Amino acid sequence: MTDTLLDGKVAIVTGGGRGIGRAEALLLASRGAAVVVNDLGAESRGEGADASAAEAVADEIRAAGGTAVANHDDVASWEGAERLVRQAVDTFGRLDVLVNNAGILRDAMSFNMTEADWDAVIRVHLKGHFAPSRFAAAYWREQAKARGGDAPGGRIVNTASESGLFGNAGQSNYAAAKAGIVGMTLVLARELARYGVTVNAIAPRARTRLTATVGGAEAFMAAKEGEFDAWNPDNIAPVVGFLASDAAADVSGQVFVVWGSHVYLMEGWRMIHDFDAGGRTWTPEELAERKAELFAPAPHGSGVPPMGFGL
Ligand SMILES: NC(=O)c1ccc[n+]([C@@H]2O[C@H](COP(=O)([O-])OP(=O)(O)OC[C@H]3O[C@@H](n4cnc5c(N)ncnc54)[C@H](O)[C@@H]3O)[C@@H](O)[C@H]2O)c1
Repeated sequence: MTDTLLDGKVAIVTGGGRGIGRAEALLLASRGAAVVVNDLGAESRGEGADASAAEAVADEIRAAGGTAVANHDDVASWEGAERLVRQAVDTFGRLDVLVNNAGILRDAMSFNMTEADWDAVIRVHLKGHFAPSRFAAAYWREQAKARGGDAPGGRIVNTASESGLFGNAGQSNYAAAKAGIVGMTLVLARELARYGVTVNAIAPRARTRLTATVGGAEAFMAAKEGEFDAWNPDNIAPVVGFLASDAAADVSGQVFVVWGSHVYLMEGWRMIHDFDAGGRTWTPEELAERKAELFAPAPHGSGVPPMGFGL
């Protein structure tokens, strides 16, 4: 890889003031992208605001010879998301890459979950991914029109979580939002393909302020003297650099779990059985009676249900 992989590109990283987003902003800038570092500067539960988080990372990029500006908008605000996309285009003349990363945690078991904790997490993650994507998509569509239909290209990298792929007790709000982000990734990948825009999602694992709130995490994520630090948030950013580049123009609708030295390519829902009653519906009694057959090992492999795909 050369340090010019992203030369001439303009990127937004949401929640770029800390943790994984900070590392992503630094890496994109190190490969030549001009970066808008967005961060509300919220506490890990989403409360408060502090402009210094985004400013510090933009300063760090400039000090290293890169190009960056800070933005302090709340990504889950419609107007804030619009302002963020406009700032990138007004400041640097274009937008190529949107990395949706900003996030918060408010864990609780379902029976203890408050309405406020449910709403805040769904809002920041789900709406906070959709709103910037919506305005970026509108920008790329306008560009395509202005070029007489010529695809302008563009990149969206969303941030999901294994909690949303596999479930995690105590995170019904967070897992629902992250699973929603995966669903949204698939929809946006289909919608924006005609504009040459790719949309992918990563599910990272790293030691950050967010994971520090999870019981026992600090101990098992601790860096060990002289060994590769698998939990360093810097390990996540190279995948985002690749997905942002021209080399990934044909990679879309994919989900990657990223941890330490690993990039795990994931595969989603797949059909195990076509359990067919033959020209009529099943009765519940029949299903109860033949349950063992339904859950028997797949007879002929697995695949996508015919006609179910994309409906
Ligand atoms: N750390 C992990 O292991 C892990 C695992 C799975 C998913 N993730 C996801 O990675 C992303 C980054 O998390 P992190 O671990 O680096 O956490 P972090 O708390 O270090 O960083 C998140 C940043 O987002 C900002 N932010 C929060 N709400 C915002 C809003 N409304 N608008 C703009 N900025 C806002 C915060 O101020 C903070 O700087 C999150 O989406 C998180 O859910 C992290």
